[in-house]
Amino acid sequence: MRTEIQQLCEAQGLDPGRIPDHVAIIMDGNGRWARERGESRVFGHMHGVDAVRFSVEAAMELGVRYLTLYAFSTENWSRPKEEVEALMNLLVDTLVQEIKELGAKGVRLRTIGDVAALPKNCQDQLQEAEKTTENNETIDLILALSYSSKWEMVQAIKMLIESGYKGDEVTEEVVTKHLSTEGIPDPELMIRTSGEHRISNFLLWQLAYAEFHFTSTLWPDFGKESFFTAIRDFQNRERRFGGLLDTNHNVAAQ
Ligand code: IPE
Ligand code: IPE
Ligand code: MG
Repeated sequence: MRTEIQQLCEAQGLDPGRIPDHVAIIMDGNGRWARERGESRVFGHMHGVDAVRFSVEAAMELGVRYLTLYAFSTENWSRPKEEVEALMNLLVDTLVQEIKELGAKGVRLRTIGDVAALPKNCQDQLQEAEKTTENNETIDLILALSYSSKWEMVQAIKMLIESGYKGDEVTEEVVTKHLSTEGIPDPELMIRTSGEHRISNFLLWQLAYAEFHFTSTLWPDFGKESFFTAIRDFQNRERRFGGLLDTNHNVAAQ
């Protein structure tokens, strides 16, 4: 009998054997979406929550194991106080409203970034959500909050120095273990909405060999179909990792 994933893949023209394990998304364009409607930027952020819900659902339907969402960057602290406050409140409200349902569906909530910089009520709510979902195994939903890759790398270097590492003991594995994504496989696919073609200090180390999918869709308009389209685009790429492909389009063994 065909599984639900196989049926969905068939309907979507996807190969169930090549669904990425980890998808990372830069959710961008909320402000422009709101401006197009003559509304405040915060209105755009509020509608962005729907797109988060659709993306989590689509990822789960395809069996994606890790979904990382760039929700607030280190650089976003420079936005007007009212917008930052509204974003933090939106995060808390959404967590309160959604966590039960997400938890029941098998979502494990995790965070990366300088979470200690967030307001106390956000930290408390996040901690509680992480605690209540920690045993879930269907999908890890990783929120990047007050996150930037350069911040993360500086943290890692500090930890290495404080732990007394010698130069020749520092390997790729050691560095990987000291990043906030420790234990999480690198994303195979990174999606950015809103037509911007940059990574804005997001997962610089972890995206070393990811495929990038850029779409002009603004984040609040990003639905399940947009997610499936990104996966289809990913499956049309030839991933060579610096090597050569054999006749079956697999990376040739040495
Ligand atoms: C993304 O949308 C959400 C966050 C960065 C928090 P933006 O707020 O960056 O929207 P634009 O890019 O101004 O349209
Ligand atoms: C990146 O979007 C950060 C998040 C989506 C959280 P920005 O809108 O902040 O990035 P820039 O300013 O366009 O690079
Ligand atoms: Mg933006």
